[in-house]
This record gives sequence, structure tokens and C-alpha cells, in this order.
Amino acid sequence: MKGIGLAFPWLLKARRRTLLSAVFLILAVLLPMAGEAGEPASPLADEPLQPLARPAALNPGIVALGRRLFHDPILSADDSISCATCHNLSTGGAGRRAHATGINGAVGPVKAPTVYNSGFNFAQFWDGRASSLEAQVGGPLTNATEMGANWPEVLGKLGADPSYVRAFQAAFGTGPTEEAVREAIATFERSLVTVGSRFDRYLGGEATALTECEREGYRLFKAYGCASCHQGANVGGNMFEKFGFMGNPFTDHGHPEAVDLGRYNLTQRDSDRFVFKVPSLRLAAVNPPYFHNGSAADLPEAIRVMGHYQLGREIPERDVNAIAAFLGSLVGVMEGP
Ligand code: HEC
Ligand code: HEC
Repeated sequence: MKGIGLAFPWLLKARRRTLLSAVFLILAVLLPMAGEAGEPASPLADEPLQPLARPAALNPGIVALGRRLFHDPILSADDSISCATCHNLSTGGAGRRAHATGINGAVGPVKAPTVYNSGFNFAQFWDGRASSLEAQVGGPLTNATEMGANWPEVLGKLGADPSYVRAFQAAFGTGPTEEAVREAIATFERSLVTVGSRFDRYLGGEATALTECEREGYRLFKAYGCASCHQGANVGGNMFEKFGFMGNPFTDHGHPEAVDLGRYNLTQRDSDRFVFKVPSLRLAAVNPPYFHNGSAADLPEAIRVMGHYQLGREIPERDVNAIAAFLGSLVGVMEGP
């Protein structure tokens, strides 16, 4: 008080009420500054990562229809496999195998990534070849190593089921159409947002939501440069980058495959060789194995590989563990299934 009086002598002469409001004003300016020294991360706008937010009101009838379609094996050629077979929503929405297995045991070339938070990705698939969730739906449905179906067949089966016809009528005012199936499933997927993670609470100002080790992991994640690629609310999903800035993980691995060429397979441009969508790390902690080819069995291995091939750094054990702990704090509530 004395200090303020010396610095601002006019304050001492002011009427009491004015004085009080002046003190409050000064405190209001000073307090947030004091908060900076002892975490939480602020101001939010300067952070490379942002909290997840639920998308603006999705039509509940369309979401419910999409949920039903997502879980219904009727979408596969022999009624044996649903979207949820490969994207198990109760365990993290991703596959557990390095190579997803479709109808008749057919083995695909890549791992199934999670569908949670996929609405935040700027493109779908490891190589980003689908520009939207609506566009993505046709991929697995007609892929011979996934559901092996075709649209006329699927629409025929849905049209023969009176409860589906009613549900489509209620949601879209038409019977089952390809467009409506795409929209229903995509809308359901947009509802699969894992809000409320401890990390998001920390960003929101709750300093104790993270352990010291997790806070250190976040600091390292930024300091090593991981956040230059894995960033934003989805901690990824908003750019394409080469896998292997420093060396080539595929030739080092011993058996490079066609899928390792990434976006080159779409564009045939040399600069797109080994280029992939930077994946979201929101649920990475619960969805091993890692990378499009499932070549890293656990999180510490994936972090070491990233350090080596993306940043040219051999990340010491202690830092690897702290970063893994931080990634664990990104996992929010899996709502929706
Ligand atoms: C046989 C297993 C399998 C089935 C069944 C399956 N998927 Fe997938 N899904 C995958 C694989 C594998 C990928 C990655 C393919 C790629 O990137 O080339 C994938 C990718 C995706 C993605 C992109 C996610 C991202 O981050 O890029 C979405 C969304 C998705 N699937 C939704 C669905 C929907 C909707 C269905 C049902 C219509 C479905 N999947 C059925 C295995 C499957
Ligand atoms: C130059 C961009 C870039 C940098 C820097 C980077 N990554 Fe990645 N990260 C990628 C790409 C691209 C992939 C996908 C590789 C693939 O398709 O197999 C990936 C994949 C991952 C995965 C596997 C995700 C999954 O679901 O399979 C993890 C975990 C990961 N990164 C963590 C990190 C960490 C930790 C750091 C810092 C040490 C880091 N990354 C730095 C681009 C980057």
C-alpha cells in the first residue's frame, strides 16, 4: 500500500471508494502476471495446442442414425463387419493391429487410425486422400480388403428394412440414399469428440490438473519441436509432412512398401514421397501400435523414432517418459458410442 502511495501520491488524497476501485484495478492487472510464473500455460492464444470443443449443435436424429449405421455389419458384403469392427469405440476408436483385417480375413496395408476427433482433421486417411468425412465413408465400404460391398447392394439392404426406411425419412425426408448414408455417418463421427482431458483443464487454468512430470513433458514436447507438426486442438491433423526428414525409416526398417510412399501414390510428385498427414496425438496414448504401418509397438518407441527421423535428435529415456506421460494427459472422455 505504502509503495503504491509513493508511486501514485494522488491516490492518498482520493476519496476512499475511488481508492479502493483503483487498488482493485491495479490488482486485476498484476494478478494474471503473477500467475504466469507458476504455470498454468497462459495466455492460451500463445499456446501451440488448444482445448477441444464440441462442434456446434449436431442434429441428434442424424447422429443417432449415423451411430446405428456405424455399428451395423449390414454395410459389408457378407454382413460380417461394421465400421466399429475396425474402429472399436470403447477402446479408442482405432485398430489394434499393424494391418487392419477386413472381410474374409483380408489383410489391408495399413493400421486403422482412430475415428475420435476425426472431424477436426483437415483431410482423412494417413495420406489425406479423402477431403472430408462424407467423402471418406465410401472408402472402407467398397474396399475389397475392408467391407467389400458396393452402394446399390447396401442401399438395397437398408431399403428392405422398414425401421431404417423410417429412420432415414425422419432424419432426411427421403429413403436411404448414398448421400444420406454418408451424411449420417459423418455427422455421427463429428460427435465423437474427446473433451475434458486433464491437459485441456490445465490449459483452462487448472494448474494441478497435470503432474509435474506431465508438465515437463509438455515443455519438452514444445522444446524439441514436436508441436511444430502436432499442433492445434487435435494435436495434429492440420498439415502434411514427410516421415523421415533425417534419414529414411522405411529403408532402415528393411522392407519398404508401396504405402510408405504416402501422398506420392496420389500425386506422383517426387516432393510427395513419404509425405503423410500429421496424425492427431489426442488418443495416441491408448492406441498402439503406431504409424501407418504399425511399426512402433509402444509410445516410447514412437517418440524415439520421431526424435530420430523428424528432428535428428536421440531423445534420452527421461525425456521420452515425460513426453509419454504428457501424451497420456491428452486423453479426454470418449463419448458417443
Ligand atoms: C477392415 C477394417 C476397417 C473397416 C471395416 C472400416 N475402417 Fe475406417 N479405416 C481403416 C483403415 C485401415 C484406415 C486407414 C486407411 C488409410 O489411411 O489408407 C481407416 C481410416 C478411417 C478414417 C480416417 C481417420 C483419419 O484420421 O484419417 C475414418 C474417418 C474411418 N476410417 C471411418 C470408417 C467408417 C465410417 C467405416 C464404416 C463405413 C470404416 N471406417 C470401416 C479400417 C477400417
Ligand atoms: C516434421 C513433422 C513432425 C515432427 C517434428 C514430429 N512429428 Fe510425429 N508424426 C509426424 C508424421 C507425418 C507422422 C505420421 C507418420 C506415419 O504416417 O506413419 C507422425 C506420427 C507420430 C506418432 C504416431 C501417431 C499414431 O497414431 O500412429 C506419434 C506418437 C508422434 N508422431 C509423436 C511425435 C513426437 C513426440 C514428436 C517430437 C519428439 C514428433 N512426433 C515430432 C510428423 C512429425
